[in-house]
Amino acid sequence: MIPLFKPSCTDEEVEAVSRVLRSGWWGMGPETEAFESEFADYIGTRYAVAVNSATSALELAARALGITGKTVIVPALTFISTAQAMQHAGNKVIFADVAENDLCIDWSDVASLASQANAVVPVWFGGAVVWPPGLPEHLTMIEDCAHAAGSTAAGLYGDASCWSFHAVKNLATGDGGMVTTNDADVARKLRQLRWCGIDKSTWERDQGKYGWDYSIPADGEKMHMNDITAALGRVQLRRLNDMNERRRVTARNYHHHFSRLDWLKLPELCSGDSQHLFVVRVNERDRFVDHMLSNGVSAGVHYKPLTHYPHLFPGKHNVPVTERVWKTMATLPLYPDMTFAEREQVIDTVKSFKA
Ligand SMILES: Cc1ncc(COP(=O)(O)O)c(C=O)c1O
Repeated sequence: MIPLFKPSCTDEEVEAVSRVLRSGWWGMGPETEAFESEFADYIGTRYAVAVNSATSALELAARALGITGKTVIVPALTFISTAQAMQHAGNKVIFADVAENDLCIDWSDVASLASQANAVVPVWFGGAVVWPPGLPEHLTMIEDCAHAAGSTAAGLYGDASCWSFHAVKNLATGDGGMVTTNDADVARKLRQLRWCGIDKSTWERDQGKYGWDYSIPADGEKMHMNDITAALGRVQLRRLNDMNERRRVTARNYHHHFSRLDWLKLPELCSGDSQHLFVVRVNERDRFVDHMLSNGVSAGVHYKPLTHYPHLFPGKHNVPVTERVWKTMATLPLYPDMTFAEREQVIDTVKSFKA
């Protein structure tokens, strides 16, 4: 079965992890610090704070920015974490619709909800970055960049931006995440929040003579990264542009082969996008997905709208585009190390669907 996603691993990843395993320091330490500084440089922000997932990144970013006990606008078409993390930080979530063409948050809907809200969390769906025409001043912005590692300009405009290094992401470490920001105070709060509220990391206290004492000036969570993950992340970061270019080559190839299929709507391609997902639209989506699966090709759906979980998000939600388009969406396999034969099988299987 051709998978939907697959992480790309070279000897460099294996060697980096082995080096840390042999070093005797597996916890949060020098590799994590180096990954943070290299990631901040890559994105173009002052600070990067490494955590154990994007879900943690989103929750801690909200707390560090003072977004707790507030109302937050989240797109209805996203992974559950985007909204859950805002609720775990003590907020009420209200849903905005998505734009029909790129499936990112609909900024005109954000404008109409803005007077009821304190913050917005745009998701760069599939890696497409769509900037707001102008955001009301009072709205704090936390970018959900889980799909957007390597997308031009992702992470540059939010008060904080949150990244995922989950196994299927463009930069994969198994699990892991990062918050980037230009605000020194927010970065300082994040460092404390991710490590139980403690003011000094174990690594810092271990330099020279071991210092057992620390203080805990505020409450926090256990959500930091460790050096095994960070070592893997540093190699993946060095390879990220190349891996993304290989995703784009496959996406362009799909476009070339599918452009004459009048029953299939293709995503717009942008040379600056991370190309995390390749989402097509087809009227009989469920039959299409079954056809792919029964021919050995994985196909998925990103995502069932969050409005379909009323036990988590009660109340009335008005997101007509999301409710209509998700029923037609199917994600095709896309990963950097896809072979020629795998790509051909995906293409042939799509073309053999009787629409
Ligand atoms: C849009 C979006 N936000 C957040 C997350 C959460 O990422 P993580 O698995 O690193 O917590 C994901 C993961 O799939 C995602 O797709």
